[in-house]
Amino acid sequence: MSAYPNAVRIVEVGPRDGLQNEPSSIALSDKLNLIHGLAEAGLKVIEAGSFVSPKWVPQMADSGEVFANIQRAAGVRYTALTPNMKGLDAAIAAKVDEVAVFGAASESFSQKNINCSIDESLQRFSPVVERARLLSIPVRGYVSCVLGCPYEGKIAPAEVAKVSRQLLDMGCYEISLGDTIGTGTPVKTAAMLEAVLDVIPRDKVAVHFHDTYGQALANILVALQHGIATVDSAVAGLGGCPYAKGASGNVATEDVVYMLDGMGISSGVDLHKLAAAGQAITQALGRKTQSKVALALASR
Ligand code: HMG
Ligand code: MG
Repeated sequence: MSAYPNAVRIVEVGPRDGLQNEPSSIALSDKLNLIHGLAEAGLKVIEAGSFVSPKWVPQMADSGEVFANIQRAAGVRYTALTPNMKGLDAAIAAKVDEVAVFGAASESFSQKNINCSIDESLQRFSPVVERARLLSIPVRGYVSCVLGCPYEGKIAPAEVAKVSRQLLDMGCYEISLGDTIGTGTPVKTAAMLEAVLDVIPRDKVAVHFHDTYGQALANILVALQHGIATVDSAVAGLGGCPYAKGASGNVATEDVVYMLDGMGISSGVDLHKLAAAGQAITQALGRKTQSKVALALASR
């Protein structure tokens, strides 16, 4: 355990992780309004799309158009997923500020999500990371299923640590640890983080909790207690992974910001502007917010 960080960097994944699993099609203008509203609220890193196979994830097929139409705010990084060289080429053409490769600590999830084993995925990512770095594009590495897998169940912390280290050694500047199906609980989170922090410096670690079982904020608190200062979240708690059945959205950014504000930890995000961005996208999608804080603010 270490002291809480003074500031937390929030990586807003709503436009990608949040929208990738929506059943109905989403207008380009709604995506752009969301991205602009998030920047207006003070978010400095916005995962705005994904250059993956449109057959696998149709909802992200217009990511090139999204990037072409973003009115980029100064100081904001607009990022995207790139599973292979084809994705990286598209991301470069779209002038993406930062890309991400996404692996897993579970063999079966790796197969279902990106159609290859963990080792094969690392072989595929290696040239992606190398080329991006030659072009000075920072690369983030995701590790999915760090606290459980929809196909295999339990995942050993040592497996998470191993893949995380491999991605870091490959050249990723940061490793985001994904509780893809949101089954993690605080004590298990601590054990997993301790295994990872044995092999990776804490300033290179981010946490990415889905809130399926309502444990995300508790798990984030544990991460903060371990000195981790980068947290992924999605406005309105949007989302879910198409290859993790039953996985619900990410922890809501509004809930994270409210908790950080209450702890005196700065995030640079204006909660009211953020809630407005959440309200606009949930209205556009015709669904309810998953954020308790957004609900509470709306009822005042
Ligand atoms: P594959 O079928 O093994 O790949 O898929 P392939 O190289 O054989 O290509 C098959 C077809 O896809 C070809 O087209 C390629 O051109 C095309 P065809 O000849 O059949 O017409 N293709 C592409 N098209 C556009 N962009 C590309 C691309 N690559 C190939 N980049 C592949 C392998 C990785 C492409 C596929 O499995 C895929 O796209 N998977 C994406 C899965 C995904 O996006 N999942 C959700 C994101 S991960 C997540 O949500 C977890 C995370 O949030 C963290 C957490 O919560 O844990 C990050
Ligand atoms: Mg996710």
